[in-house]
Amino acid sequence: MKKIVIAIDGYSSCGKSTTAKLVAAELGYAYIDTGAMYRAVTLYFLEHHVSLTNPKEVKDALDKIDISFHYNPKAKRNEVFLNGLNVEDEIRKMYISNQVSEVSVVKEVRRAMVAQQQKMGRKRGVVMDGRDIGTAVFPDAEVKIFMTADVDTRARRRQDELLAKKQLINLDEIKANLQKRDLIDSTRAESPLRRADDAFLLDTSHMTIDEQVEFVLNKVTSRI
Ligand code: C5P
Repeated sequence: MKKIVIAIDGYSSCGKSTTAKLVAAELGYAYIDTGAMYRAVTLYFLEHHVSLTNPKEVKDALDKIDISFHYNPKAKRNEVFLNGLNVEDEIRKMYISNQVSEVSVVKEVRRAMVAQQQKMGRKRGVVMDGRDIGTAVFPDAEVKIFMTADVDTRARRRQDELLAKKQLINLDEIKANLQKRDLIDSTRAESPLRRADDAFLLDTSHMTIDEQVEFVLNKVTSRI
């Protein structure tokens, strides 16, 4: 069977990663969470006080960053490592969510991440989720999905996810963070968040996870 690239882009917290993970498992594909990569860069920049407006500092920092994914069989998930350290839990915290979109605007950061993502998917057989996969990373992806959902539903889902990790965050704060990130992500100059012309629109506001997975798998069937 032909191996393809499945690009899943869209707004924050509309179920991209949950859907992408299940689709990848169903097809025996690798799942790559590109948001985790931008979050890991953000963690490094914060820890090392990298100035986003100083291209040399940014470049030097990027040269020192190594991001990789490793499967954790116990948790049954791919986890992100920054310079050999497992940062999966740390990068999901609110202080990272509050800074990540500002870091993701920086041209040098995007170019480094996009190049690494293209390398990771060069053999195809991947499901990649993010904001610019179908437009910038793999404009030739065989299946492109653009996910959205109403912001209140997204905020509630995000709150539940954080609660499961014992982080109790107020709904208004989460909603404000989602709206702020969506605005920065979709208005930046370099590879902004937007629906590719050939992406299928998937509004998950009233859908179950199973229905979302089925939607994507249906689009895949005709391409492999
Ligand atoms: O997917 P997640 O919500 O974890 O992504 C965190 C942030 O990383 C996004 O809000 C966005 O600023 C950035 N991002 C990006 N391009 C991607 C994936 C994520 O700019 N491909």
